Amino acid sequence: MSAIIVDGKAVAAELRAELTSQVAAMTAAGSAPPSLAVVLCGDDPASAIYVRNKGRAAERAGVRFTLHRPRAESTTDELVALVGTLDADETIDGILVQLPLPKQIDQDAVMACISPEKDADGFHPYNFGRLAEGHPAVVAPGTPLGCMELLRRSDMQLQGSRAVVIGRSAIVGRPLALMLTNADATVTICHSRTRELAAVCREADILVSAIGRPRMVDASYVKPGAFVIDVGTTPQDGVVVGDVDRESVEPVAGWLTPVPGGVGPMTIAMLLRNTLALARARRGLAQV
Ligand code: GUN
Repeated sequence: MSAIIVDGKAVAAELRAELTSQVAAMTAAGSAPPSLAVVLCGDDPASAIYVRNKGRAAERAGVRFTLHRPRAESTTDELVALVGTLDADETIDGILVQLPLPKQIDQDAVMACISPEKDADGFHPYNFGRLAEGHPAVVAPGTPLGCMELLRRSDMQLQGSRAVVIGRSAIVGRPLALMLTNADATVTICHSRTRELAAVCREADILVSAIGRPRMVDASYVKPGAFVIDVGTTPQDGVVVGDVDRESVEPVAGWLTPVPGGVGPMTIAMLLRNTLALARARRGLAQV
């Protein structure tokens, strides 16, 4: 057996095309286009590339994109004032503060200035709480949403399945475990202290690794036929390396999302979906 390699790039392109049509339909009906404001503070080169890609994707989909670049030496008060102004601006539907922020900034204080109704990243505790309570949330973090979309579009049966998520971060592992639970999977969250990790993972019909340890997940972690999702992105010698040892896992798994070209491209598509959802909610329109 050899795993089906899940083409996240193609699925993300399909999704962006769907979102572009939805934005066009909304504006044709007389609404203002969705608008996304992004704050990029500091000179992290990876963040600059991510933000450029987000801007391009937004503009191509018909989403109005504005970039704010406060200087790297900004204070917490300055960023709080900037994000507060964006939050109060009626013409803006979604706000994203690119992370990480420079060390001198109190990240929590800045993020707290984004109201749940403008939370394009889906990071706000209110939106996380909705997800945790099992309610449909208007927005949710893009990376786990992208994983769920890849599962759905591959017709993976979630109800009653066993899922194991390696990684308990607030933006990937925890929200993904909640999404899988809400989709009626039976979910185990593992982390760096989990004992017998490979044995626990071998029980999974759906195995997700979001721990950031290059090539840690080999065939000994994988139940034959499992759906393996690799969320790892560790830069190594100028390339991005996933958590999954593809050579070892591909002959055992049923499906495998590659790095690059698996979950990564889905994250930006989900940011656009979140922005459209916020815009529809703010205009009193039903979700599509
Ligand atoms: N930095 C790396 N990924 C992300 C993301 O998804 N959102 C934000 N705001 N910052 C990031």
